[in-house]
Amino acid sequence: MSSYLRALRLVNFRNYADATVLLAPGLNIVVGDNAQGKTNLLEAVSFAVTGSTPRTPNDPEIVRWGEDFTRTEMRVSLNGGSGGEERKVAVGYAPGQKKRLTVDGAPAPSLTAYAAGGAGVRVVTFFPDDIRIVKGAPADRREFLDDLLSSMRPTYARAVAEYAKAVQQRNQLLRRIRDGFSSERTLSTWDRKVVDFGTTVLEGRAAAIQPLASLFGDAVRALYGPEKAALRYSHSAPLEEYAEALREARGADIERGTTSVGPHRDDFVVLFGGVSMTTYGSQGQQRLGTLALKFAAREYLRAQTGQDPVLLFDDVMSELDKRRRGYLSEYFLGSTQAVITTTNLEYFEEKVLEKAWVVRISGGSVSQDTRAGATNRAGKPETA
Ligand SMILES: Nc1ncnc2c1ncn2[C@@H]1O[C@H](COP(=O)(O)OP(=O)(O)O)[C@@H](O)[C@H]1O
Ligand SMILES: [Mg+2]
Repeated sequence: MSSYLRALRLVNFRNYADATVLLAPGLNIVVGDNAQGKTNLLEAVSFAVTGSTPRTPNDPEIVRWGEDFTRTEMRVSLNGGSGGEERKVAVGYAPGQKKRLTVDGAPAPSLTAYAAGGAGVRVVTFFPDDIRIVKGAPADRREFLDDLLSSMRPTYARAVAEYAKAVQQRNQLLRRIRDGFSSERTLSTWDRKVVDFGTTVLEGRAAAIQPLASLFGDAVRALYGPEKAALRYSHSAPLEEYAEALREARGADIERGTTSVGPHRDDFVVLFGGVSMTTYGSQGQQRLGTLALKFAAREYLRAQTGQDPVLLFDDVMSELDKRRRGYLSEYFLGSTQAVITTTNLEYFEEKVLEKAWVVRISGGSVSQDTRAGATNRAGKPETA
C-alpha cells in the first residue's frame, strides 16, 4: 500500500494566515470561487512534500504579504496507514535564510534528499501553466524530465545541479580564453568535470525516455484517441560520442563563449501521429499532451518506486468534455490519493462525489465538507 497525506497546516502561505486541511485517501476535491486560494493550497501541498514550489523559482512570493516567514506542516500516513505508521514533516522558510526541513523532528540531510521521497511520499502536479512543457521551449521539457528523475533519486538531482554549475564555469573560462586571460590547456580539467556530471544526466534520461514514451502512448490513447503518440529524445551529442563532441566543439565554443554540446542543449519531441505537438498542436492537443505526460510520470514513478505518487491537479476539469471528465474522475478515484481543485462541483457526477472528500475554500479559510456521501466514506479523515 502506498503512503498518502492526512493533514496539512499552512502558516503564512500566500493568502493563508493559519489553516489546517484534512485529507482522505482517494479523491479529494477542493472547491471554491475564483481567487479564494485553491491553487495556493495545491502549491502548499507540493511545497510541503518537496520543499520547493513548482509554480515559481522565486521563493519569497509564497510568503504571505506583510509576513517574514512561511511554514507548512504535514502528517503522512505511511504504507496506506495499515500499521498506523505516520511521518510528520515540516518546511520552514524565511526569505534570505536556508530552508528548515524536518522529518519527525530531525533535520533532513539536504533539500535534494528531502525532495526525493524524504517526506515519505512523492507528488505529480498539474498546473494549467504546465502546458509549456509541450508548447514551450526545450528548457521546459528538460525541466520536466529532470524534476521527475530528481524526485526518484537524489544522486540524479545532485548531478543536474553540479552539471549546471560546471557548464557555467566552463563558459566563464571559454570567455577568458577567447579574451586572452587564460590558456586553452586549463580547459581539460573543466571538460572532464562537465562530461562526468553530464554523463550521469544523459544516462538517467536515456534510461527513462523509452518507458516514459510507452506510458505516454497509453495515456494519449486513453485521453485523446487512437492517434499513435511518441516521445523522441533529441541529442546535441549522443552518449557514446559526448566527450569527443565536446572536444571537437572547443574552437567554436571559445569563439562564442558558451558550451554548445551536452544535456543542457538537448530536447525531447512530443509527437501525435508523427507530428510535433510543439509546432503544430492546437491548444487542446497541447493540454491533453501535457496531461498525458503527467499520467506517464505517475505510472513511471509507480513502477520505479513501488509507491503510487499523490496527484495534485489544478483546475483540470474545466477545459475537458464530459467523456474525458468521466475518465479523469475514475482515474483519480483509482489512485491512492488525488487532490483536485475546481470552481464547480458539477464537473463531477453524483456517484463520484459520493466517494470523494470535499474541501471548501473561501478567502484563505478551509471548511471540511459534511456531505452525507463524504462522511460515509470508509477512508475519510478523522476529525482533528
Ligand atoms: N504571497 C501572497 N500573500 C497573500 N496573498 C497572496 C499571495 N500570493 C497570492 N495571493 C493571493 O491569493 C489569492 C488566491 O489565489 P489562488 O490560489 O490562485 O486562487 P484560486 O482559488 O482561484 O486558485 C489571489 O487573490 C492572490 O492575490
Ligand atoms: Mg486557481
